[in-house]
Parts: sequence; structure tokens; C-alpha cells
Amino acid sequence: MGDGSIGQIRPLGPADRDALIEGFDSLSPESRIRRFFFEKKALSDQELHALTHPDGVDHIALGLAVAIEGRPEPLPIGVARCFRSQDDLELAEVALITRDDWQGAGAGTALMQALAEAAWNVGIRRWFGALFCDNQTIRNLLSRVGDLSDDRAIGSGVVEVLCDLYPPVQPEPAVSTEVE
Ligand SMILES: CC(C)(COP(=O)(O)OP(=O)(O)OC[C@H]1O[C@@H](n2cnc3c(N)ncnc32)[C@H](O)[C@@H]1OP(=O)(O)O)[C@@H](O)C(=O)NCCC(=O)NCCS
Repeated sequence: MGDGSIGQIRPLGPADRDALIEGFDSLSPESRIRRFFFEKKALSDQELHALTHPDGVDHIALGLAVAIEGRPEPLPIGVARCFRSQDDLELAEVALITRDDWQGAGAGTALMQALAEAAWNVGIRRWFGALFCDNQTIRNLLSRVGDLSDDRAIGSGVVEVLCDLYPPVQPEPAVSTEVE
């Protein structure tokens, strides 16, 4: 990571339920609004089940955790996921979030690149994502992994963009990736 700490990216699973709750609870109102488009207060049991049971094909979810001195377990700091469209099997919806106190340290970039590679390896070629029109950070991250379309206005300052993914540099899927 940018500060020299070591991060590890891996697929999420059922054992990450508590970490997901803790990470969600840590989010500022602004990050919740930027991710969910309203100040979402909590994740329901149904949402938690769905978010922690990705199949790695139609729902890919990757988490990044960093080693912190004095902390026995790595601290989860970000999640990137995509959900394949049932109408177009080469298309998936993408979403990304980093804990507020770790934003700007490279987690989003690393997660986006790992997710793009994992998506490509299961036949996904395009992403779509909803974002506030002023969310330049997510635009920049997306434009590093694919070609971005023009905005399509959805309403209330939210737009949808399409991202034509670039082929990954490494042809093999990264099951576990260390990030410095
Ligand atoms: C969008 C979001 C996921 C980005 O995650 P992040 O972990 O902050 O992303 P990064 O740290 O990789 O990159 C953010 C910026 O920091 C810069 N950066 C990365 N590592 C850096 C470092 N070591 N030193 C200085 N800057 C750095 C990046 O270049 C990028 O700059 P840019 O905006 O000018 O392109 C995060 O801001 C977030 O969770 N926002 C709320 C939710 C949201 O908006 N989600 C998108 C809609 S689904």
C-alpha cells in the first residue's frame, strides 16, 4: 500500500460476515451515500447473506485486508464486487468501497485491478456502474482498467457509465494477491 503496509486481496466468503458488518459500521455518511445513493444505516440479514456468498462467476467479491502492527488479524479495508447481468452474460454491475481512513492509499486501485482480472477470466467483458456525476475518483479507477463510455443520466445527480474492460496483463487468475 502507499504507506508501506502489506495488503492481501482474496475472495470473500461466509466467514467475512462480521468483518463486513464492522466495515460497514465504520463508513462515514458520505461514503455510504456515494456507494448506496442514500445514507444506508445497516445491512439486512438477507443482504449480508448475499454479500458473503459470492459464487466467483456470476457474483465476484474481493476483499483487501492490511497487516497492522499489534493487531492479530489483518484489518479489512475495502471490498470490490461485480454481479453479472442475466440479460447479457458479458456484462456485470461493479461496486467498490474503501474504509474512509484508508481512502487515497491505493486500496481501490488494487481492488479494481484484481476484480477486472477476475471478471475477465470468467468471461465478463464490460462493467456498468452507477455513480454520482462528481465522483471523479471512481471514474479514474475505472478508466485504468477499461474504456469508459459517456455518462447516461439516471437522475438526482447519479449517472451510469459503461466500462469496456482491457484484457488483463497476466493471463492467469490471481487467487491471492499481495499488495505493497
Ligand atoms: C471510490 C473509492 C472506492 C476509491 O478507493 P480508494 O481506496 O480511495 O482508491 P485509491 O486510493 O486507489 O485511489 C484514490 C486516489 O488516491 C490516489 N492514490 C492512490 N495511492 C496513493 C498514494 N500512495 N499516495 C497518494 N495518492 C494515492 C489515486 O491515484 C487516486 O487519485 P485520483 O482520484 O486522482 O485518481 C473510495 O473513495 C470510496 O470508497 N468512496 C465511497 C464509495 C464510492 O464512491 N464508491 C464508488 C461507487 S460504487
